Amino acid sequence: MSKIMRLDKFVSMNRSDITRSIARQLCRQGRILVNGKKALFDQKIDAESDVISVDGETVKYKEHIYIMLNKPKGYVCSTKEKDGPTVLELVPKELFRKGMFPAGRLDRDTEGFVLITDDGELSHKMLSPKSHIDKRYYVILKEPLREDAEEIFSLGVTIDGNEKCLPAKLERISENDRSCFVTLSEGKFHQVKRMFKAIGNEVVFLKRVSIGKLELDKNLNIGECLEILHKDIQKLLDKT
Ligand code: URA
Repeated sequence: MSKIMRLDKFVSMNRSDITRSIARQLCRQGRILVNGKKALFDQKIDAESDVISVDGETVKYKEHIYIMLNKPKGYVCSTKEKDGPTVLELVPKELFRKGMFPAGRLDRDTEGFVLITDDGELSHKMLSPKSHIDKRYYVILKEPLREDAEEIFSLGVTIDGNEKCLPAKLERISENDRSCFVTLSEGKFHQVKRMFKAIGNEVVFLKRVSIGKLELDKNLNIGECLEILHKDIQKLLDKT
């Protein structure tokens, strides 16, 4: 298989510190080589078989990109502009790729970890109901947590009278009986909100803090994106 593209595009896609215009400049300065020869920025290369280097350092081809977004309220997990401001609008230009999408949905008013990628296969593995990848949420409630909340969640809550959820883990935050962490291994529509409604409470704030074994980076401000390093991608699929 071959993957033909322009050299400046290849370099900017695979080196997040080099924009397309910088790549063109580096080409003019003779600092980018294709298979050992000085290259023209608009030259077509095969991303899978040609060897590209910048200042002597080989540029590795990344077939896909994986972005951690700390989603703010007010954005939808959709690729369609008609749905309102989408999470894709928060992806900075240097990380943006055609074909990207949010892998999974958080509600418009939910904050926290959203994976944005162009890797359909990984997204499918992560979201497939058979995979049971854990998602952990920080929850603030309107009412104090009832005493038997952990037990009810661990046995599987029935929502809307007839929909049975898988067992879920609820962890109290000791000094505050209106907040907790909840870990789910499935992803039903509005699930956390509906689970608390089923036990007579109401979610007033919801934030996803991890997917699989990958935690939302504590230094990532709300609305900011971070490229997930290769070594951390597998953590998205790891069982906790
Ligand atoms: N559960 C919800 O109710 N909303 C979300 O956004 C995610 C999980």
